Amino acid sequence: MKSIVIQQPNQLDIAERPLPEPGTGEVRVRVKLAGICGSDSHIYRGHNPFAKYPRTIGHEFFGVIDAVGDGVSEPRIGERVSVDPVISCGHCYPCSVGKPNVCTSLVVLGVHRDGGFSEFAVVPAKNAWTIPADIADDDAVMIEPFTIAANVCGQVNPTTQDVALVYGAGPMGLTTVQVLKSVYQARTVIAVDRIGERLAMAQRCGADEIFNNSQQSLPAWLEEKGIQPTLIVDAACHPTILPEAIRIASPAARIVIMGFSSEPTTIVQQQVTGKELSIFSSRLNANKFPQVIDWLRQGLIDPGKLVTHRYDASQVIEAIETFEQDQRHCCKVLLTFAK
Ligand code: NAI
Ligand code: MN
Ligand code: ZN
Repeated sequence: MKSIVIQQPNQLDIAERPLPEPGTGEVRVRVKLAGICGSDSHIYRGHNPFAKYPRTIGHEFFGVIDAVGDGVSEPRIGERVSVDPVISCGHCYPCSVGKPNVCTSLVVLGVHRDGGFSEFAVVPAKNAWTIPADIADDDAVMIEPFTIAANVCGQVNPTTQDVALVYGAGPMGLTTVQVLKSVYQARTVIAVDRIGERLAMAQRCGADEIFNNSQQSLPAWLEEKGIQPTLIVDAACHPTILPEAIRIASPAARIVIMGFSSEPTTIVQQQVTGKELSIFSSRLNANKFPQVIDWLRQGLIDPGKLVTHRYDASQVIEAIETFEQDQRHCCKVLLTFAK
């Protein structure tokens, strides 16, 4: 089979690899579609501290089960599945409290173990979620990025009273905007970014207000409009954002961060405690595939609004370069591995 392998930073090969056999409790997926994510590019460029090389990248993928290992029921062969990249032990403390996404022996497909940018991928059977016939392939491949938004929202339980503000209108911000508006029906959703084209996408994803903070001050604009956000999601993840979020937040607001910056951030306790703010973080997803599948079935989210580019898997280098270089026009890129 052909696999997209990062041999070492900046060296991507389409390599010929032996067809893997599923072991006990595993299934083999014949991959049809996969999505390119920032972390794929980071592993390619050597900027992911968790990655080991060589690595088959890709953690957003959809396909059809074509073989099963011992202990997996034969009828699963032929099932259309989307794969949850989060592999957890099931018995450590975080697993025992429902947070397999931060399992003490966490393995993420495409990061710690070979992933889905491949003609075939072997994965634990329980990570391969069955896709109902009424969900299209193109939507099924987008489930993983929406599980990130589902996890963010799961931390804070948005309500129809919320005035939500989302920093960043990249794929993560846009899935969050859709979920906040369409699933939770937040009263107001404000998207903030530095790129006009991305803000236009946020508007198409349901944002009620957009603000470009490249030239103007967000705190000043909010003050002028008399808006104090009650829920703030940082999907831009620059270390300067959390202090600003604390400043602009309403008393009793919730803030969710999701960045991995190793730069320090200075926050003032008085501003946090004075307003009794709740600050959450969110990483990957904790068993959110069924929830997102349900949202898709109900037509509450529209992944197609994020997809701007499609390539054959053989053109992966061009696809990643477009993804990296054209943030104005490029959001989610899909790769086709099999029709
Ligand atoms: P992206 O780079 O496509 O989007 C980030 C957006 O933020 C861009 O549109 C950029 O213009 C905007 N931005 C940057 N600085 C800003 C600022 N100061 N104010 C307003 N907007 C600003 O990235 P993507 O894929 O949407 O991911 C966003 C972040 O989320 C990344 O830092 C990534 O590492 C993180 N992430 C976290 C996950 C988690 O589970 N915790 C999962 C996936 C991504
Ligand atoms: Mn992703
Ligand atoms: Zn565990």
